[in-house]
Amino acid sequence: MMKRMLSGIKPSGELTLGNYLGALRNFVNYQDEYEMVVFIANLHCITVYQDPKELRQYLKDAVALYLASGLDPQRSIIFLQSDVMEHAQLGFILACNSYLGEMNRMTQYKDKMAKGENALTVGFYTYPTLMAADILIYDPDYVPVGDDQKQHVEIARDIAERFNNRYSPTFKVPEPLIPKVGARIMSLSDPLKKMSKSDHQDKGVIYMLDEPAVIRKKVASAVTDSIGKVNFDPKEQPGIANLLQILASCKSTTVEAVLPEVGHLNYGEFKSVVSDAIIELLEPIQKRYHEIVSTDLLEKTLYEGKLKAQAIASRKLKKVQHKVGLEIFKR
Ligand code: AMP
Ligand code: TRP
Repeated sequence: MMKRMLSGIKPSGELTLGNYLGALRNFVNYQDEYEMVVFIANLHCITVYQDPKELRQYLKDAVALYLASGLDPQRSIIFLQSDVMEHAQLGFILACNSYLGEMNRMTQYKDKMAKGENALTVGFYTYPTLMAADILIYDPDYVPVGDDQKQHVEIARDIAERFNNRYSPTFKVPEPLIPKVGARIMSLSDPLKKMSKSDHQDKGVIYMLDEPAVIRKKVASAVTDSIGKVNFDPKEQPGIANLLQILASCKSTTVEAVLPEVGHLNYGEFKSVVSDAIIELLEPIQKRYHEIVSTDLLEKTLYEGKLKAQAIASRKLKKVQHKVGLEIFKR
């Protein structure tokens, strides 16, 4: 039987080159070998307040970009998280099988607390238990994610093991799958920070829908150093190292393989090679995006995806509710 893979993206902004290289592109490649379950984590989006109108646009664009990137609704199950209500219901049950201490240890939560955010929502706090439900309800073998999501997959594994021990074997314990190149694309303006869609207006972020001229401008103003030589030295030359990672990832190869081709260039020339590679990668996707974004393909995809996902999720949830003792009658 084909192994199953599951992942999601939380489009609380426009999707970035980091999302594409770290996640989306891999989902597309894995379709040949695995049964892919891919969803848009819209419930996770609202753990931080979203303007409703903007959120709708981000979600729509994300579906269109999934399809434009080559996710195939015939082969993969593509849906909106909130369309399959079983996620939230299992999320609550899993929250009752998780501890405050575990949530307090999550980096994402700790970072926000450390920044002194004073309006963190309860939904944000229980983000990991909902994410565990997203995963465990489908019994996937693998969960491909970028580096920043590894801890969330690990806690999902812990919760699965605990549940299996406390009740009886119920959930498959999945493996996270982190790409070798592109797992952590950094901001162009601050190469010590992740390239993230929440940095509004930041010229350090390349969006999947950025025009070629915008991409060139952003890359041209990327922070480098005064060493003046294209080396791969993330410690001393984090900006250049990031551009090398981006180049290698865009060309689906390794930093070692691209270095001989660019090692002799000055920074200006090197940046123009990097821009070319990004544009070559994104232009065909943008073209397809524009072809499909106003068609009924998006709605059709989400509807069919929801039915397929629900069929799996509702069976699992029933089983769980029975084991926990919530169901009185066997249905
Ligand atoms: P998010 O945008 O946080 O929903 O992330 C969606 C997916 O993209 C996750 O698998 C992330 O790990 C991945 N991702 C997000 N930002 C980056 C980045 N800068 N570099 C690599 N992967 C990323
Ligand atoms: N938290 C993930 C992110 O920000 C999105 C997500 C939600 C997810 N549920 C998931 C990813 C389940 C993988 C599996 O990227």
